[in-house]
Amino acid sequence: MKTLTVALGERSYPIYIGANLLNQADLLTSHIKSKQVVIVTNETIAPLYLKNVLAHLSAFHVESVILPDGEQFKTLDSVNLIFDKLLASKFSRNATLVALGGGVIGDMGGFAAACYQRGIAFIQIPTTLLAQVDSSVGGKTGVNHPLGKNMIGAFYQPQAVIIDVDVLATLDDRQFAAGLAEVIKYGLIRDAAFFVWLEENIDALLTRNKTALIYAIEHSCLMKADVVGEDEHEGGVRATLNLGHTFGHAIETGMGYGTYLHGEAVAIGTCLAADLSQRKGFLNMDDVMRIVNLFERAKLPVKSPTELSSEQFIDLMAVDKKNVDGAIRVILLEAIGKATLPMSVDNLSLTQTLQSYGR
Ligand code: NAD
Ligand code: GLY
Repeated sequence: MKTLTVALGERSYPIYIGANLLNQADLLTSHIKSKQVVIVTNETIAPLYLKNVLAHLSAFHVESVILPDGEQFKTLDSVNLIFDKLLASKFSRNATLVALGGGVIGDMGGFAAACYQRGIAFIQIPTTLLAQVDSSVGGKTGVNHPLGKNMIGAFYQPQAVIIDVDVLATLDDRQFAAGLAEVIKYGLIRDAAFFVWLEENIDALLTRNKTALIYAIEHSCLMKADVVGEDEHEGGVRATLNLGHTFGHAIETGMGYGTYLHGEAVAIGTCLAADLSQRKGFLNMDDVMRIVNLFERAKLPVKSPTELSSEQFIDLMAVDKKNVDGAIRVILLEAIGKATLPMSVDNLSLTQTLQSYGR
């Protein structure tokens, strides 16, 4: 097992990464400080892994909340079901919430923990590749709004993140590929050597070769922990983690939550961001092609949906947390391995990108 640290002073916490960690009781119980534990998961994950977690908690008062599965259920209504359970069980402020699932469960569980009695402890047990390399680390929690993705939420850090790579065995290929989009993101924004490693090892990752997988997860978590440690509340460098996301969120919202997986939308969005970077004179065309090629090899979509017109797309992009005074700002690439901070972009360049390469 490898242990990384998200260094945030007295709110620092460990990320445990390895095989068979779901069956190691002490990793979980050592971070639980009271008798009351609520496990938040969903109807797909519960039959697979809930019993592994419950097995460690016989000495605790445990309640489970099993939510419906899907991005379309990442809502305040679902979070309210968690509050219902906490209140009906008379759980106190020293209770601990365990989020067992992908990014949807982790984001909602974390948000419920941030809000219940103004904050209870929570632990992330991410079960998708995407959640293991990205969403479980860093304390962004929240829900979607019909008008904008992740627009309601809070920064709220967990006590620990427990990453068991064995749970990925039950993840389907489409979801697995979606997680690779965020892995590729790290190479693009801050580590050209890792991008080259991914070009060389993408086939091994797709066969879920454990050595390659653990390396990719560790390396991704290391970069995420570095960025979050430097800029927890996204005043600067953390925004680079949103490469491709302004486009991607527009696709998720515009097409209906769940139509495109988050990672798929990020893959398309990153190709659009690369195209725009080239139009702005940053990237050369060879690098754009390397980027698109790697996403394609990772079995991810690279073309934006034809259902969205450029006007609709730009209108959707106007609802994004990076925007300032209503102006659309995106992360661009100066090179493979080097992202810009958020930059305002003119509608003409944006339209050219949306109308040409992406569509
Ligand atoms: P998800 O949570 O919807 O999980 C994907 C699917 O896989 C679901 O159907 C889930 O039930 C199933 N599943 C989960 N683990 C499984 C397993 N081990 N075996 C079989 N099936 C399993 O999607 P996701 O890709 O994990 O997360 C996407 C969400 O994360 C989006 O809402 C996105 O906005 C959010 N996100 C948040 C952050 C952050 O920093 N907080 C970062 C990136 C993404
Ligand atoms: N996934 C973007 C962030 O954590 O900042």
